[in-house]
Amino acid sequence: GTARIAVTGLATMGSNLARNLARNGFRVAVHNRTPARTRALVEQHGHEGDFVPAETLPDLVAALQRPRQIIIMVKAGQPTDAVIDELADLLEPGDMIIDGGNAHFADTRRREARLRERGLHFVGAGISGGEEGALNGPSIMPGGSAESYQHLGPVLETIAAKVDGQPCCVHVGPDGAGHFVKMVHNGIEYADMQLIAESYDLLRHVGGLEPAAIGEVFRTWNSGDLESYLVEITAEVLGHVDAATGKPLVDVIADQAEQKGTGRWTVQEALELGVPVTGIAEAVFARSLSANTDQRAAVRAAFPEAEQAAAKAPEGLVEDVRHALFASKVVAYAQGFDEIRAASQTYGWNIDLGAMATIWRGGCIIRARFLDRIRAAYDRDPELASLLVDDYFASAVEQAREAWRRVVVAAVRAGVPTPGFSSALAYYDALRAERLPAALVQGLRDYFGAHTYRRVDRDGSFHTLWSADRSEVSA
Ligand code: 6PG
Repeated sequence: GTARIAVTGLATMGSNLARNLARNGFRVAVHNRTPARTRALVEQHGHEGDFVPAETLPDLVAALQRPRQIIIMVKAGQPTDAVIDELADLLEPGDMIIDGGNAHFADTRRREARLRERGLHFVGAGISGGEEGALNGPSIMPGGSAESYQHLGPVLETIAAKVDGQPCCVHVGPDGAGHFVKMVHNGIEYADMQLIAESYDLLRHVGGLEPAAIGEVFRTWNSGDLESYLVEITAEVLGHVDAATGKPLVDVIADQAEQKGTGRWTVQEALELGVPVTGIAEAVFARSLSANTDQRAAVRAAFPEAEQAAAKAPEGLVEDVRHALFASKVVAYAQGFDEIRAASQTYGWNIDLGAMATIWRGGCIIRARFLDRIRAAYDRDPELASLLVDDYFASAVEQAREAWRRVVVAAVRAGVPTPGFSSALAYYDALRAERLPAALVQGLRDYFGAHTYRRVDRDGSFHTLWSADRSEVSA
């Protein structure tokens, strides 16, 4: 065969990725279970590059140079396993299967181990940027063997987004590392959107601004430290008027957020790893809460009285919310990076955190100016205890601190729910506290279950004989 690489699964993401490859000069073999789709792709976009259509998987395999590289863009779960099994029987040692979907990293680890036994490389590659990114340059997070990246890297780096001439693609680490990092990317995406949504809610219901005006606020914010794709499109969505009703579109969209599961996975894994990703967790829970319309209706009916609205918006609210958004965002990213670091240690992935910030600067949904700062922070100190202690972020959060508190106070007074802002502030306050009430928790555990505690002044474990004379014994 003569094709450099193949794509199977030609729904929108798969088609766009194949077109991106072809437009960049790679001869790309394309396949879809329903061949009509393959024909349609070549008919409509054949002029964009060099496509080799294949009717069957054996044809697809035959069309490829060796070692073969096949990107599968099918539904996560069972459909992915089915295609992998079929391909594995057709391939030879040294060939590579690349899963570009949002697979769970544990599935990727399992598949990688199974294919490795057969001499095949399995690369779980996170791809972010939606349809547009797949076509014009996504952010790509490939895992798998270093050897597979030698072959695949040059292709993926060519089709990836570029920032300052650098591709938004790097070898993340072995087996499931790429899909893990993509999962956390999505978790951060959830947190980011929740914080943006809370900012909007505050400006509207405490600040008294209309959606279009809030859109303008976001547009202004997009030229400062908050510059990011999500802030940019927030301005677009808030400024949009529904053609049917003439109302702001945001007022006619049902207020029930959906989710496909990557945010939930991020939190589940964080629970396993013992990493507090409170910002992401609150964002996932906020979506679940919003979707529970029956429960919302019941509770609303039980408490019909509205909070007393303040006569006028607190002075400087817009600027305060900007600070609160920035500081809370720093917390969300700090937590996400902590989770990547913890997983990297647990699974032996050796992930370069600064490199993750680098490849998220372009192409992906959370792309933002601020990621340059994160990269710089981890470049200065790869062992950083938290993003919060880096000089730049520490001083930004310090400057934001009073505004952040005012915003949370105003939200609480007005009854505007801000779980993202509030929990981020609580996380910050907890981490910097001299003493935490965890001491009391330990005392209680010792009282009811003789679970023992450690002391601040002596080594060892201790237990108080609560139901006897209350003397202390070494445990
Ligand atoms: C991306 C997006 C992409 C998808 C999310 C949406 O990086 O391009 O994250 O993966 O849009 O999975 O997730 P929810 O449907 O769960 O919001």
